[in-house]
Amino acid sequence: NYKKINKDLGDQKNMSGRVNGKMAFVTGAAQGLGEAISYMLAKEGAKVVLADINSEKLKETEEKINNEFPGKVFSIKLDVTSEQEWQDTLAFAEEKMGGLNILVNNAGIGEGSSIEETDYEIFQKVMKVDTDSVFLGCKYAIPIMKNYSPGSIVNTSSIAGLIAGHNMVSYNTAKAGVWLMSKSVALHCARQGYKIRCNSIHPTFIDTPIIEGMLNRSNLKKEELKAKLAKQVPLNTIGDPDDVAYAVLYLASDESKFVTGSELKIDGGISAM
Ligand code: NAI
Repeated sequence: NYKKINKDLGDQKNMSGRVNGKMAFVTGAAQGLGEAISYMLAKEGAKVVLADINSEKLKETEEKINNEFPGKVFSIKLDVTSEQEWQDTLAFAEEKMGGLNILVNNAGIGEGSSIEETDYEIFQKVMKVDTDSVFLGCKYAIPIMKNYSPGSIVNTSSIAGLIAGHNMVSYNTAKAGVWLMSKSVALHCARQGYKIRCNSIHPTFIDTPIIEGMLNRSNLKKEELKAKLAKQVPLNTIGDPDDVAYAVLYLASDESKFVTGSELKIDGGISAM
């Protein structure tokens, strides 16, 4: 009997089915936070379409997750700035999974320069990849998702969407846009009675390949940069991808059925200061 209880607990630990039967679409899923989120959703019972512009890395990630959770994930190349590709890939997702009820707009790029240093083309690029992408994703997913409700949209903003820095004018602007856009989408869905919720998440420094981009802009070694970033965080560490994946899991699941138009900060306390 002890063995049986232990086995049940073991199974529960590996798979508690918090999003059992759900059908999810995750952008920027090839690596970093998107990969961790996709893995978490598959582990907790959802089918997941992984979408990313980097098709090579995307295939590797699809294979890795499917090896552990066979048949749970599918991948498709998507440039989140392309209106046509959004429509095509969402149709693919509906067909492959038999529906769609979770959208995680995670793809994004970082940028670190001030108003005087930033070329207009760079500003426009960051806005396109980080903000327009979320507009397109919500716009084209909602008409599909409303047929498979209850549904949940999780948009990745950043703590930089709530707090500004002198050297991130494009990123601050783009991520602040995602923050309020999420609330407008939430209110629209509620008003229409769609049973689709929409919330934004606001991570601070998380240990993903995006940190490599920061490295290129500094003279530090990776461990030195991580230590420097950690010093700015009250909890004295930077985050792990799973810290974000658990937040998305909660917002994606029906556990958060009364939560919409809200922002969830995953920032080790930075914004409390
Ligand atoms: P990452 O750079 O490791 O991964 C981003 C993924 O998005 C890559 O797989 C990339 O190929 C994909 N991508 C980039 N442009 C794309 C496009 N046009 N179309 C489709 N896919 C595209 O970054 P990370 O850290 O995983 O970031 C994910 C999200 O989280 C981003 O929106 C980022 O701004 C946000 N974020 C990250 C934080 C961090 O410290 N890692 C902190 C706060 C927010």
